[in-house]
Amino acid sequence: MLELRVNGGAFELDAPVGTSLADALRDRLGLTGTKIACNEGHCGACTVQLDGVPILSCITLVHSVGEREVTTIEGLRDHPLVEAFVRADALQCGFCTPGQIVSAAALVETDPEPDRDVIRHAMAGNLCRCGTYPRVEEAITTWRA
Ligand code: FES
Ligand code: FES
Repeated sequence: MLELRVNGGAFELDAPVGTSLADALRDRLGLTGTKIACNEGHCGACTVQLDGVPILSCITLVHSVGEREVTTIEGLRDHPLVEAFVRADALQCGFCTPGQIVSAAALVETDPEPDRDVIRHAMAGNLCRCGTYPRVEEAITTWRA
């Protein structure tokens, strides 16, 4: 049995060795806000935070997480960035959006007023096939409005 700290709670789960954190979150804990697209570490759809640092949960083994706190999009539901993404209309299909917000939340935690270059660097790992990048940048620059 494995213990996982997620969004302020502690959970016990059974997961075979080799299970990804993304699969454990979605299939064992029902936290389906974390999306899986490429499942190979290329797209950022599966981004969650480990102790505040964005990581790709599809290529992170759940048994490697240890005591670190996992924050998923469900744990950020009251973050002002969520409303900022809505205000800026920063999504189309929305599949990349949870990962975008998780990465953006980690960014503004360390740099509340990032300029465009900093945003582009921090968000480079989050791909959007719908091309919402300008609006994602707008959401991040206006998140405290
Ligand atoms: S689903 Fe994890 S990086 Fe694409
Ligand atoms: S909004 Fe569709 S992939 Fe980003």
